[in-house]
Amino acid sequence: MKNTLAIIKPDAMKKGYKDDIRNEIKKNGFVIVEEKTLHMTNTHAEGFYAIHKDKPFFGELIEFMTSHESHIMKLEKENAVVEWRNLMGATDSKKAEPGTIRATYGTDISMNATHGSDSDENAQIEIKYFFHD
Ligand code: RTP
Ligand code: MG
Repeated sequence: MKNTLAIIKPDAMKKGYKDDIRNEIKKNGFVIVEEKTLHMTNTHAEGFYAIHKDKPFFGELIEFMTSHESHIMKLEKENAVVEWRNLMGATDSKKAEPGTIRATYGTDISMNATHGSDSDENAQIEIKYFFHD
């Protein structure tokens, strides 16, 4: 599988890290096949993160994801899902390995700068969710 969905989240967009993160993505051998900037509505965010709807952090997550624009990208690279999650680092920016995107640009477990699909199957679903055709 060659594609994954990446999102530069509102915290990183607000801090002006969009170009830095895009450059890191390209420097690491990904091609940005499609991209758009979007201010997610509640409907977008709740649909996208529906898998987490019963988690205690769901309300906070939706509030965060709708707080500002996000930049959404379809990435291409061999083994894209795993490669992008490795480049992002651990979910919690405080625990992410030095040099990873979440360690460099994120703050903590909720404001962690980027999203990445967690499986090939979810990558396909998420790409369709934001890039219809
Ligand atoms: P993502 O889906 O955004 O790529 O992140 P992930 O797979 O590394 O982590 P996941 O468990 O899917 O969590 C989705 C997003 O919810 C927020 N979160 N907050 N306060 C908390 O305990 C908590 N846990 C997760 C983060 O923004 C996380 O990326
Ligand atoms: Mg996830």
